[in-house]
Amino acid sequence: MIETKAVILSGGKGTRLRPITHTSAKQLVPIANRPILFYGIEAIKEAGITDIGIVVGDTADEIEEAVGDGSRFGVEVTYIRQEAPLGLAHAVKISRDFVGTDRFIVYLGDNLVLDGIRAFVDRFTENEPNCQILLAHVSNPQNFGVAELDGERVARLVEKPSEPKTDLALVGVYMFDETVFEATESIKPSWRGELEITDAIQYLIEKGANVQSQIITGWWKDTGKLGDMLEANRMLLERLESKIDGEVDDRSTIDGRVIIEKGSTIRNSVLRGPLIIGENTTVTDSYVGPFTSINYNVEIRGSEIEHSIVLEDSRILDVGGRIEGSLVGKNVVIEKHSAKPRAYRFMVGDYSRIELE
Ligand code: G1P
Repeated sequence: MIETKAVILSGGKGTRLRPITHTSAKQLVPIANRPILFYGIEAIKEAGITDIGIVVGDTADEIEEAVGDGSRFGVEVTYIRQEAPLGLAHAVKISRDFVGTDRFIVYLGDNLVLDGIRAFVDRFTENEPNCQILLAHVSNPQNFGVAELDGERVARLVEKPSEPKTDLALVGVYMFDETVFEATESIKPSWRGELEITDAIQYLIEKGANVQSQIITGWWKDTGKLGDMLEANRMLLERLESKIDGEVDDRSTIDGRVIIEKGSTIRNSVLRGPLIIGENTTVTDSYVGPFTSINYNVEIRGSEIEHSIVLEDSRILDVGGRIEGSLVGKNVVIEKHSAKPRAYRFMVGDYSRIELE
């Protein structure tokens, strides 16, 4: 049997998630307190693939530190260095030595497929097409690669068309055999200067290769933007089981599915799940509402927050109104101050966004 490998693409700049991605890889932004990338690795493992190459760029060190050699996930990871973000098809092109002549899947490190990819990989292994793509109906196809079908056959793929002909977006999970390398060697950079994976597959279609498609009906997201990330957070929190390892005092109320990790303390607060509180976090005189992920070493005091993600080492203190729909980075302080004159005072990084009521 020919082995199937996986290549996860984890380069890219994450411009749509600035300022978080100024200091951090977008694939490591946590959803339900775990890096997005980890869900991808687990989905690949669950589909029976353990030989994984991860294409890394500027954020290589951070990704290698988080994932290591893969043994923690029961997989073996090889890092493939992409010198510049020259496109997804370029990342595939430089994976050739790792892939050899095996069949392989390409998984975009910021994509999340809630029900896993096992069924798709099984079908690919069984039918042995040159390429298999996954498609999903979306309301904003102009933001994706878009497919036009002729019955079951993929007739044409266009990257981010301004006037999409269908609502079928290319999901960031692709399956190939070695014929794709002919495509990645032949295509030219797009208007944005990148070798597009969509163009590589279009090349295969034009050469008469066997390109199959499958429509995915389960929940899927490209978590490249804040709203999508919050939705992913919501979906994953819904699936967690309650677990309280931290301390909750008797003036606090806990409703619904709530995870409180060890070393955390909840005092005189209302927690309404689904939500997760990471290790060594304190919540005092506060309300934490549904669909909120608070990471480790965070302090929430005298504040209300829901439907949000807060990264490690941040402090939210005595904020008057309720915080919602927010992504708060690492080591951030949001605090109500009584100093005179009464005023808003900011020290805000590039590409930050603040909305006041
Ligand atoms: C990439 C692909 C696009 C695909 C999308 C899925 O877009 O170029 O065809 O639909 O991933 O997540 P990007 O998110 O890199 O702009």
